[in-house]
Amino acid sequence: MNKKLKLRVTNSGLLALRHFKDLPDGNLFIAEAGRQVPFDIQRVYFINTLANPKAIRGKHAHRRLQQAIFCISGSFSLHLDDGRTRQRVRLNDPSCGVLLGTMLWHTMSSFSYDCVILVLASDVFDETDYIRDYAEFMRLAATPPAAKSRPLKGPPSRAR
Ligand code: TYD
Repeated sequence: MNKKLKLRVTNSGLLALRHFKDLPDGNLFIAEAGRQVPFDIQRVYFINTLANPKAIRGKHAHRRLQQAIFCISGSFSLHLDDGRTRQRVRLNDPSCGVLLGTMLWHTMSSFSYDCVILVLASDVFDETDYIRDYAEFMRLAATPPAAKSRPLKGPPSRAR
């Protein structure tokens, strides 16, 4: 992964971890909330044993959740889509991850046999935060933020 790569999609960016290379005695990588990771970390999960070379994971966006995704072993391709711009990034360096901000459709594919994905998330799991339908994602991505939070019109107020 080119550490100078510019991410053109919105709500994303490269995240560089502090690391100490001490080979052959091992490498140490550090992710701290508010430092290398721009949110408070409420959840950590990882994905391993990606034995199916045709596997495609993700295929969703989040309304409020922010995540930081790292490939801590092997490599995989991350496809990002903000509703206007699409970009593909090959993650193959444990010290360099990607911020998955809100409203960013993402899929993961082309996993190497030894791939392990680590994700740091800004909140605990909440299925209602997922957008799993691409057409709905595109519709929401095209809606200005003010219109999304505007309350629904109720009956006329009688208070006087
Ligand atoms: P999902 O986020 O769709 O996985 P991916 O994006 O890697 O393809 O999650 C797969 C399943 O696991 C889904 O049923 C929700 C569940 N899950 C949890 O219960 N808790 C979690 O923290 C996560 C990430 C997923």
